Amino acid sequence: MKAVKVEKSKAQPVIEMLRAKGLFDYSRQINFGKDFFVIPVLSSKGLKGLELVEARLKKRIRKARTLFEALKDKMNAKELEALPRAFDTIGDIAIVDIPAELVKKEALIGKALLELNRHIKVVAKKVGVHTGVYRTQKLKVIAGEKRKETVCKENNILLKLDVEKCYFSPRLSTERKRVADLVKKGEAVLVMFSGVAPYNCVIAKNTLAKSVYGIEINPSAHKYGLENVKLNKLNNVHLYCGDVRKVVPSLGMKFDRIIMPLPKSASEFLDVAALAAKDKVVVHFYEILDIRDFPGKCVAEIKKHFPRAKLLNAVKAGDYAPGMIRGCVDFMV
Ligand SMILES: C[S@@+](CC[C@H](N)C(=O)[O-])C[C@H]1O[C@@H](n2cnc3c(N)ncnc32)[C@H](O)[C@@H]1O
Repeated sequence: MKAVKVEKSKAQPVIEMLRAKGLFDYSRQINFGKDFFVIPVLSSKGLKGLELVEARLKKRIRKARTLFEALKDKMNAKELEALPRAFDTIGDIAIVDIPAELVKKEALIGKALLELNRHIKVVAKKVGVHTGVYRTQKLKVIAGEKRKETVCKENNILLKLDVEKCYFSPRLSTERKRVADLVKKGEAVLVMFSGVAPYNCVIAKNTLAKSVYGIEINPSAHKYGLENVKLNKLNNVHLYCGDVRKVVPSLGMKFDRIIMPLPKSASEFLDVAALAAKDKVVVHFYEILDIRDFPGKCVAEIKKHFPRAKLLNAVKAGDYAPGMIRGCVDFMV
């Protein structure tokens, strides 16, 4: 094939000129020699003054950038159409939804995801949805290392967890930052339903809160919560394993701020929050609901237990399903 041989020190402007003239052959690789570069060209026309040679240059292999590109020669059109467009990552684990028609190709999809994203070491597929009191989700590893434990980073902290045994959503990191930014110096904060302690760690690490309490019923999540407190070298986080309804009254404490991230049934615990609230408490109350009912439905629930509640803010903390959101109402009493 045709090529231009040029001194290494003069190669860059020649490459640019060839590209500008549409003569650069993108299907072949440049041979980067010690003193000379051999540059593939489509034609020798208009290249007076340059040394033209015949050369054997390797084919350029363009790396796939999307699942579609990576699998386009290995799947039919219907399968390609059904490929997942997005996936969540927690640390180095990718969590992906595999549609029923692609189950037989899941190993192929997993392998492609590993190749596309060097930082991913495990690909796990969702087997069902978040269920039960612990809000956990069954997962099956379809490619990479056989593990479900990982460490992820967010808001200046590290969080270690087993993605199957504990609830954790990386999509809520912005919401955790929003709440942490509201915490004032010296506050006593309570995180009901603390999970692996993301709220506790983000608040303790990034604010001047006096103390950050957390209560979690799932023993596995609680165990990781304790590890995360150590991992982030925090000394004002106090975690308890048990039911909020029993543990909060047993603490005999009052709090300046109460966070209630149990979006499907937080309203059942508003009476417990009322017991632990200081005068001028700020509560962050989460609910999953139809966007048309937000924040009206939340405010109605809140008023049953806090009739003097003053609404501070109502934010959409994330999408849940078509038309359904995870809303947060901040209120003060
Ligand atoms: C939606 S997750 C939120 C976890 C964590 N706050 C986060 O943002 O990652 C709700 C958590 O509440 C816990 N939980 C459910 N009912 C509880 C209760 N009555 N007392 C304490 N924890 C509870 C679940 O085990 C789960 O870890």
